[in-house]
Amino acid sequence: MHADVLVVGTGIAGLSYAVRLAETNSDIKICMISKRDLLESNTKYAQGGIAVVSNFFLDSYEDHVQDTMKASGNTSNKKVVDFVVREGPKCVKELMEWGAQFDTKGTKLHLGKEGGHSAKRIVHHKDQSGLQIQNALIAKARSFQNITFFENHSLVDLITDHHIPNTKQGGCYGAYVISKKDEEIVKITAQLTVLSTGGAGQVYAHTTNPTAATGDGLGAAYRAKVHVENLHFVQFHPTALFPKIGGNTFLISEAIRGAGAILRNFNGEAFMLKYDNRKDLAPRDIVSRAIHSEMKKGKQPHVYLDATHIDTKILEQEFPTILKSCQNAGIDITKDFIPVLPAAHYICGGIDVDQHGQSNLNGLYAIGECSHTGLHGANRLASNSLLEALVFASRAATHSAIRLSSELLPVSFFESIPNWSGTEDISNQKTIQIRELRTTLQHIMSTYVGIIKSGESLQKAEKELHKVYVATKELYQQNKLTPQLTTLRNLVSVAYLIIKQSQKYPTNNGVYFNEDYV
Ligand code: SIN
Repeated sequence: MHADVLVVGTGIAGLSYAVRLAETNSDIKICMISKRDLLESNTKYAQGGIAVVSNFFLDSYEDHVQDTMKASGNTSNKKVVDFVVREGPKCVKELMEWGAQFDTKGTKLHLGKEGGHSAKRIVHHKDQSGLQIQNALIAKARSFQNITFFENHSLVDLITDHHIPNTKQGGCYGAYVISKKDEEIVKITAQLTVLSTGGAGQVYAHTTNPTAATGDGLGAAYRAKVHVENLHFVQFHPTALFPKIGGNTFLISEAIRGAGAILRNFNGEAFMLKYDNRKDLAPRDIVSRAIHSEMKKGKQPHVYLDATHIDTKILEQEFPTILKSCQNAGIDITKDFIPVLPAAHYICGGIDVDQHGQSNLNGLYAIGECSHTGLHGANRLASNSLLEALVFASRAATHSAIRLSSELLPVSFFESIPNWSGTEDISNQKTIQIRELRTTLQHIMSTYVGIIKSGESLQKAEKELHKVYVATKELYQQNKLTPQLTTLRNLVSVAYLIIKQSQKYPTNNGVYFNEDYV
């Protein structure tokens, strides 16, 4: 397979990049890889929406910039924050032209409020914003003849000089991917490669991310010696439903606190004022730590979210998914408190990129959650992630079109790239062992590298993870590669980076909290 551009990952970042590039350049061949089917991405699970300034009477770019800087403890890159906030409205308008529908009030967009925002500015579709966006983008992307989709294929490795004899050009030339169905490893070469592989919440036992969010792009980039930064800034969402449903942790959107829901401890006390005068709508690092502290004090596995005083009509109209999912778990949110606990939600760091989404490896872009643009710093402001994905996808697409019109590698070069060579002939009967190693890794990360860390806990994590690394390496060297094994390899890489970067971080800031520094 050869394409002009290979896009790995089909959430909001990858799809909007491809749509923008295909719309303006019908001659560019784009190949898209999706780990599951096209609908299954982190984007689908985003409930809240997109933070964007749209009501200029009650809000301003300056306020959105300031809120973003403040939530990050002034660690965000101000220049990046500025252009993302200012380019956001145009990107959201474009998204609507591509078919995404958002809730309205009269002739204006209905705006939600979330933690850390000084104004109502969350553009949303009930509590299913991500699903709405994902469906609209899939339909739009499918309408282009020059976009080809490979569903159920996972990233194995980026193709770099390392894979090609006598080559020292310092570039990325596509990727090896593995099919879920027959476990065949396919070589896809490309002039440009875009990683939009999303998050890595699955390194933790409790995460709001789906099972496919295993940091595949981060792992592959790290192995290709691409700069990966700030992985120690793991954001925990304060309110995930307790316990898990069918093995998955269900998110209770922050927007419901924006509509008035209140956190209560086991004694029924509304505790947030003790921690921050913005109470339940303080930035989520503060809320998550407050919940953690209340759970510890009360020796309880969760706290409660009380939405019983919110008008039932509002709950039905704005939060139908939460209402129904809780109902399925036996909780009537109009009458009962919702048991909640913090869960790993978002990695604020990622593959280091410039203002066009370019990494330090020539020909490799990264957009969306797997990237580190500088927007989030040490703590992402709620609903800034879909905004970042849209703005950087748009910038990367514009930049890619320019690059493709000038700097092209010859076809003969791509033909010289060898197929994947591995231990393909040996069968892999180790599925149970792979699953156990994944569970062990998640347990290590949740126990030692959670909301509150310490030098000792990080050391324990490093030691325990090393055993998982050794077992994974052995499996990798002695068995046929499977999607499960490549995923485990990526989880190990991401967990390792989170631990190592945590150990190097010298102070408490944003989502990073080490009790030794108190
Ligand atoms: C939420 O709906 O609470 C999640 C929004 C986000 O993570 O930005």
